[in-house]
Amino acid sequence: MSQREQWSSKLGFILAAAGSAIGLGAIWKFPYIAGQNGGGAFFLIFILFTLVLGLPLLLAEFTIGRTAQDNAVNSYRKIAPGTRWHWVGILGMITSFILLSFYSVIGGWIIVYLVKAIAGDLNNLTVDQYAEVFNGTISDPVVSVLVQLLFILMTIIVISGGVQKGIERVSSFMMPALFVLFMILVVRAVTLDGAMDGIRFLLLPDFSKVTSQTILEAMGQSFFTLSVGVSVMVTYSSYLPKTQSLPRAAFSIVGMNIFIVLLAGLAIFPAVFSFGLEPGAGPVLLFNVLPTVFSQLPFGMLFFIAFLVLFLFAALTSAFSMLEIIVSVASNGEPSKRKKWAWIIGLAIFVCGVPSALSYGVLGDVIIFGKTIFDLADYTVSNVLLPIGALLITLFVSMKMKRSALWEELQRGSRVKRGLFEAWFFLVRYVCPVLILAVMMDVLGVW
Ligand code: PHE
Repeated sequence: MSQREQWSSKLGFILAAAGSAIGLGAIWKFPYIAGQNGGGAFFLIFILFTLVLGLPLLLAEFTIGRTAQDNAVNSYRKIAPGTRWHWVGILGMITSFILLSFYSVIGGWIIVYLVKAIAGDLNNLTVDQYAEVFNGTISDPVVSVLVQLLFILMTIIVISGGVQKGIERVSSFMMPALFVLFMILVVRAVTLDGAMDGIRFLLLPDFSKVTSQTILEAMGQSFFTLSVGVSVMVTYSSYLPKTQSLPRAAFSIVGMNIFIVLLAGLAIFPAVFSFGLEPGAGPVLLFNVLPTVFSQLPFGMLFFIAFLVLFLFAALTSAFSMLEIIVSVASNGEPSKRKKWAWIIGLAIFVCGVPSALSYGVLGDVIIFGKTIFDLADYTVSNVLLPIGALLITLFVSMKMKRSALWEELQRGSRVKRGLFEAWFFLVRYVCPVLILAVMMDVLGVW
């Protein structure tokens, strides 16, 4: 068997892990979930969960991955041989599978808009016309399935090329560009007439709107945007040389993520209020609002095209990580098998994702537990599977890994202070599991 692949540079890992984290979660999902959950209070709770749960979990996954240096399933096996803990990795694979099946639908929507913007179909439309064009396209069964397939094909092609060649190269230039474009967008959005209402909506918490459902969704959202609970970060850090500081990587990824969430919120909500749109519009929110904001900028459509390209990259780098975790287990570290499995699994995900793509058209009337197929898949991943995965990972670290071994692993490549380590360990051991369980039980009405 050939030697295990590694990231080719220090930056490679940070970029790829940040690329996994920053994606549709921060840019597309956050605004629409926050919009449905009353804005400010949701945002605040989301930030708290990101710091108290997401950050420690991210570091926990990094530590597991770099300790074991193996794929998502074998990592648990290596650390706790002869136990059933590797099911945490299998759960992560299942979660990733479902996740990519609907994530690719939104990836497809970006492609639709990109094609339309390049073709000049989006010039000088009104807010309502943008919504019309967009809703018309995503309800078309052939178009929505084709673009979904295209998105998955891009993911398959990169992942079949291998970690280093594929993921790193694509991740290394898009992030800074995305930040810059977002800033331009925010400046335009917050200077629109009536923008203050949107800023207030996002930043002033109104706790009367908070229910146990809001709290669960904020928790799910914090896991979703950081890609934790699925062992994706276990997989990525397993390719990491021992010279890299794990805490520094975790802090910078969380920092970037919070920043991009804030930018997305500040780009969307002022515009929503200024144009008199509905913040609770759901998954179509971003797609209905953004072109209008861009059209208010000089050279707006050019900016919009650039934004869509970067947005597509951001979505793709997250999609890579979802497919990578499954392919790395299936091919068991053998580069010769990687290509075959990337295609088999990728296409299987596409087939299972077709009903989600049709949820906005021909299957729109299929409602299960009060939700469309797309919404059900999204809800199940974010609010059921990710919290369960996260809970199990915290239990694994506190029950199966020695405190001294954790301390040693975290010190490699880093000068982490003992106090910081103890705080992290306390959060992972006590606070995270108790809080995750409490939030879940609260929604189930256990008390
Ligand atoms: N964090 C990614 C995003 O925000 C989604 C993701 C979740 C990716 C879990 C991998 C694992 O788009």
